[in-house]
Amino acid sequence: MTDTQFSPAHGIAFIEGAYMPLAQASVPLTDRGFVRSDATYDVVHVWQGRFFRLDDHIERFEASMRGLRMSLPYSASEIASILMECVRRSGLRDSYVQMTCTRGIPPRGTRDPRLCQNRFYAFAQPFVWIANEEQRRDGLRMVVSSVQRIQPEAVDPRIKNFHWLDLTMGILEAYDHDATVAVLVDRDGNVTEGAGFNVFAVRNGVLATPDRGVFEGMTRRTVIEIAEESGIPCEVRQVSAGELRAADEIFITSTAGGIMPVTALDGHIYGDGKPGALTCRIQDTYWHRQDVGRFCTNVDYRDGAA
Ligand SMILES: Cc1ncc(COP(=O)(O)O)c(C=O)c1O
Repeated sequence: MTDTQFSPAHGIAFIEGAYMPLAQASVPLTDRGFVRSDATYDVVHVWQGRFFRLDDHIERFEASMRGLRMSLPYSASEIASILMECVRRSGLRDSYVQMTCTRGIPPRGTRDPRLCQNRFYAFAQPFVWIANEEQRRDGLRMVVSSVQRIQPEAVDPRIKNFHWLDLTMGILEAYDHDATVAVLVDRDGNVTEGAGFNVFAVRNGVLATPDRGVFEGMTRRTVIEIAEESGIPCEVRQVSAGELRAADEIFITSTAGGIMPVTALDGHIYGDGKPGALTCRIQDTYWHRQDVGRFCTNVDYRDGAA
């Protein structure tokens, strides 16, 4: 079969009850998800043919929907089956799988969000990495952005959302400074998060990650659990930008890449410029956790794409 943008391996989407090549999938222009960022979503990954924490991701997605007063006609197990089917049809062994709920299309002549029928969109596409292979091996360069993270009192970051302009401006600022990623601070100068990731600082063998103004990432949760099980102290609390600068090691966490070391912040090189020992240890444990165990759900690829 020729490899075109419509090949299953480029992604499969589910919209309005139908599966289709991702390249063919589209959103109606008047869906408030598109014109008002009135949507929530979640991203789960499949690694070597297994979903990681699928039920936890769907549970978080449902909590986000409740937070925005949205609902869908699908149960958690129906959502799981749809995501599974997208991956099965794609044949992808390593995949980035997104589920989205938008407010939907307002009936003509009204802007009342309550009158919209919420819509569900899902897709599986090849695994997405925040950082390329070399950056993951050697460490990422980060900047502390001059753009502040949107205040949690305005948009609750615990509900995964499309309000990404602050995060996107951060990415642009990082590129301006020859860095890969930017971390945003709040109005008091405390560290929050960056575009698609949470942040950890390591100092004297103790991990610290912000408790407030952040999306409570699944990878962050996994790191907190790994730390607890491995006897590594981990504090979930306010972390100032100054404390981040003074860290021994820094790493970021995301479903799109796992645990990724940061070896430079605002041009300052950490340690010997190589990923720190504790970061590497946690990174190894994280990837081992994808192999087997209670967090893994096998994808059944039978009768899917070749
Ligand atoms: C703003 C933000 N923070 C943190 C994360 C990391 O969350 P997770 O580990 O669940 O991928 C994401 C993921 O996309 C995100 O968008």
